[in-house]
Amino acid sequence: MSKVEEYIISIPDYPKPGIIFRDITSVLRDADGLRLAVDEMTQCIGDTQFDAIVGLESRGFLFGMPMAYNLHKAFIPVRKRGKLPRETAHISYDLEYGSAEIEVHKEDITPGMRVVVVDDLIATGGTLEAAIKLLEGLGAKVVKVVCLLELKGLHGRDRLAGYPTETVIAYE
Ligand code: PRP
Ligand code: HPA
Repeated sequence: MSKVEEYIISIPDYPKPGIIFRDITSVLRDADGLRLAVDEMTQCIGDTQFDAIVGLESRGFLFGMPMAYNLHKAFIPVRKRGKLPRETAHISYDLEYGSAEIEVHKEDITPGMRVVVVDDLIATGGTLEAAIKLLEGLGAKVVKVVCLLELKGLHGRDRLAGYPTETVIAYE
């Protein structure tokens, strides 16, 4: 298991009784934790050839952007709907209660573009699944998914079958 795990603080009963919340801000607040997390996530890309990193709002931005900077690659944000000023493509997806919509600038994704999708965490996998559909709908090829954490008990990976997915820390 990665040393980054030592920087994660787990909060019992947040936001609801019975949930153990894994807080990534306790990694970022420490210069060594931050560097370890970004470097290990960057290593997860390995020798995969790609054109841009796509980060998912908001916590995916915290990791995806420094990874792109380190590798001298472009960074493209996928945002919650209603925040991007140019023409967008959007998709809605189900949350535990209700639904959400995410979007990306249409012209930022060109057909055949190879993208690595970055977020902080895989829980149910619903957010990543929706982001992948959105990007593929614009002709991108999702060549890798990289996250800092996964919550294995929620089986989010099942929704990402066929997409090479790497995480630094897995909680049972
Ligand atoms: C959290 C997290 C992931 C997603 C994971 O984001 O940062 O993006 O949920 O959950 P899932 O695998 O069940 O889809 P959230 O929507 O809370 O937004 P935030 O990053 O802006 O806090
Ligand atoms: N940590 C951070 N974000 C989350 C979690 C968690 O444990 N579960 C669902 N979203």
